[in-house]
Amino acid sequence: MSASVLTAVAWPYANGPRHIGHVSGFGVPSDVFSRYQRMAGNQVLMVSGTDEHGTPISVQAENEGLTTRQLADKYNRVITEDLQGLGLSYDLFTRTTTGNHYKVVQDLFLALHRNGYVLPKTTTGAISPSTGRTLPDRYIEGTCPICGYDGARGDQCDNCGNQLDPAELRNPVSRINGEKPEFVETEHLFLDLPSFTESLGKWLSTRDGWRPNVLKFAQNLVEDMRPRAISRDLDWGVPIPLDGWRDQPMKRFYVWFDAVIGYLSASVEWARRTGDPDAWKKWWTDPSAQGYYFMGKDNITFHAQIWPTLLMGHNGQGDKGGTTGPFGELNLPGEVVSSEFLTMSGSKFSTSRGTVIYVRDFLREFGPDTLRYFISVAGPENQDTDFTWDEFVRRTNFELANEWGNLVNRSISMAAKNNGAVPAPTAPAPADEELKAQARAAFDTVGAHLRSSRFKLASQEAMRVVSAANKYLSDQEPWKLKEDPDRRDAVLHTALQVVSDANTLLTPFLPHSAQKVHELLGGTGVWAAQPEIREVDDLDEPSMSYPVLMGEYAAEQAKWESADIEVGRPLDKPKPLFAKLDAELGETGPEWAPIQQS
Ligand code: MF3
Ligand code: ZN
Repeated sequence: MSASVLTAVAWPYANGPRHIGHVSGFGVPSDVFSRYQRMAGNQVLMVSGTDEHGTPISVQAENEGLTTRQLADKYNRVITEDLQGLGLSYDLFTRTTTGNHYKVVQDLFLALHRNGYVLPKTTTGAISPSTGRTLPDRYIEGTCPICGYDGARGDQCDNCGNQLDPAELRNPVSRINGEKPEFVETEHLFLDLPSFTESLGKWLSTRDGWRPNVLKFAQNLVEDMRPRAISRDLDWGVPIPLDGWRDQPMKRFYVWFDAVIGYLSASVEWARRTGDPDAWKKWWTDPSAQGYYFMGKDNITFHAQIWPTLLMGHNGQGDKGGTTGPFGELNLPGEVVSSEFLTMSGSKFSTSRGTVIYVRDFLREFGPDTLRYFISVAGPENQDTDFTWDEFVRRTNFELANEWGNLVNRSISMAAKNNGAVPAPTAPAPADEELKAQARAAFDTVGAHLRSSRFKLASQEAMRVVSAANKYLSDQEPWKLKEDPDRRDAVLHTALQVVSDANTLLTPFLPHSAQKVHELLGGTGVWAAQPEIREVDDLDEPSMSYPVLMGEYAAEQAKWESADIEVGRPLDKPKPLFAKLDAELGETGPEWAPIQQS
């Protein structure tokens, strides 16, 4: 039975190019998962986009001397290209500055508000004592009350990733002139979190299959639910559709409030772009659909606490009840899959501290699949994990080039040389059947790991088939079977069958090389589809256009099963699949990200 699977991928801030730490959290895992789900016959909707409001964007715009709009346009395009280069198969990768997103955010908000889950509250906001004017969050800097980091900003600490309120900062100063801001009373809108205490707690207690650290974290949050501001003193964001708020230039929704609603708005935009405006409902209002949310661990609060409460509030399912909002009864997240941090020499990847490896540079030099493989097999799935060039070189050379590349190469070369085609299994032996059975059985084991986002185990199990096939070839020594061509044909047939199966098993991880292996085995057409960049007009503001990622994934041939190879298919001598890296790279790093000797 085909199921509807929503893959909801965290939205990267449009404030710079992506580095490999970012894509190891949300990017590669969500794509491996989605590709597997499609191959297994499920209907996947994979959506995300760039997160373009709030202080992260306005601060960077100032650094670069651009307007917020110019900055968002610039990095929306850069990030779209980075993600396409990695082969991330979004059904739609869009942005939060579209007319469609504004409308969906405002409609969802109005439903929450109608149901009584939004409270206006007087709080403290910063003003500049010398001018008497409101001081936007981005102009306030101070010490983080949680981790003690000195450069924490108005609403967020870049060091520990926690979301802050400007009034919580220790020793706050204005970045404009260094003066101490004055805090005065100001009106804001709050999400009434206490009135979800029971509903959220009950829902969390029925989650199973979540990674235990995520569930625990979320359950702890329920212990102490306090109203949380969803508006900010900012001029860059989605306007608040209420009388008295709508026209105030310095009141906007808080960036996190609008961003999480992006999962829904992007699904709606995708449906509108495919010509069936209601098509999104299959993943949102059909209770049998499952939504999987992928992110780094600094995003758990927003996906396991805030987003579920927004959905419940819209649905009228918080502790105060209410009526169902305009989108119908929306599904809550099925699973929140969070990864830990990829670090470098022990510290979190950080642009400001110089420990940064950009996706773009990486792809230019090493291509997408080596990085996808490294993140899958050695990434920060369950604990913070250090990226080292040394390990990257070892994994690439020993596992991809020696084990997998070499298996493909020698199997196909021998058959091409001896037969010019896939030979017939004329003289079979028990060892052949054993190896083929092992490869067939791997579809269940690897599939089960992928369904539960255990990417390390999944990739290791797939590679185990590759090792078994290499051992088989060493044992059978087909190169010594000149006098027994029938037996040699059977061995080469077996090897090619297992290359084909292993290629299918590795397709979610290595879609670009999988396409090549498909062709080396004599296949034609699209095996694993890749995302395309399309320039589109905004659906509601036709004067605006922007790049999106979309793709023809339904047309691809890869299926999660063993497919019998066709005897007689012509084979040519293959080119190597993976280039071996110079061992020195492991000691020095590349020129554009040299290892810093301390
Ligand atoms: N932009 C945020 C970050 O990079 C993630 C936003 S995820 C969303 O940490 F769901 F809110 F969109
Ligand atoms: Zn901090």
